[in-house]
Amino acid sequence: MTKNTKNKIPNLDTLSLDIYNDKEFARSYSNKIEYNSHNALYERPATLSLLPEVMNTKILDAGCGPGNYAELLADKGAKVTAIDYSDEMISLTKERLSGKGKVIKANLNSYLDFLEDEEFDIILSSMVIHYIKDWQILFSEFNRVLKKNGILVFSTHHPFSDFNNESDGNYFETELLSDEWPSYDVVMSYYRRPLSDIFKVLKECDFRIDEVLEPLPLEECKEKFPDAYKILSTKPWFICFRALKEN
Ligand SMILES: C[S@@+](CC[C@H](N)C(=O)[O-])C[C@H]1O[C@@H](n2cnc3c(N)ncnc32)[C@H](O)[C@@H]1O
Repeated sequence: MTKNTKNKIPNLDTLSLDIYNDKEFARSYSNKIEYNSHNALYERPATLSLLPEVMNTKILDAGCGPGNYAELLADKGAKVTAIDYSDEMISLTKERLSGKGKVIKANLNSYLDFLEDEEFDIILSSMVIHYIKDWQILFSEFNRVLKKNGILVFSTHHPFSDFNNESDGNYFETELLSDEWPSYDVVMSYYRRPLSDIFKVLKECDFRIDEVLEPLPLEECKEKFPDAYKILSTKPWFICFRALKEN
């Protein structure tokens, strides 16, 4: 527990776990994000561009999903610890890593007390924080387990996109939203917060923002997925941050 969360009682919110824990969904997600528009040709290249050289670094992959990032980082020589709350995602990551890293089942809404203080050089958390109810606990724990000057890289839904596409509510309030993922035939729930909440929690948890990316899709996307390319190259969809631990 860190100074920012001394009196906070963790919650065991499991928003969307029923979907991430569905075997069929998990397999399908694992396969699709290898080549699709939104992950492979848009989010992943942008998020990876924010990482430094990872050879011999200790990286926490927080919300690892089926392990695409974890595998990629382990293959580049990083010592990876991957965590996720879904048994199915955990088993897919274990399969992919086949012993090349640690894989631990854990809920990011709670304290990560199985991880040491200042254990990691880098934390990567791709497309996860919008499922997390309490950002104070999450980012304080990220701060605690990172070394000083450690790097936190994360991506999430762009708050403008969620507000414009899915909300009838008050932009300035946190909202629980659900939208359809047609290519998976599921309705996924997540939290929408105003953009300033990201800046606020990073500052409160002693991170300094180093870079913000509102990515554009790769050119390859234009040919393979012209409809998605048109949307992703003209409207905000996801957003990526790199922040440094100050204290
Ligand atoms: C959209 S997927 C992203 C997976 C991976 N990071 C990627 O970008 O390929 C979100 C992941 O976050 C995990 N997740 C969501 N809420 C979580 C929580 N409270 N604790 C741990 N993992 C969580 C889900 O199980 C899922 O694997």
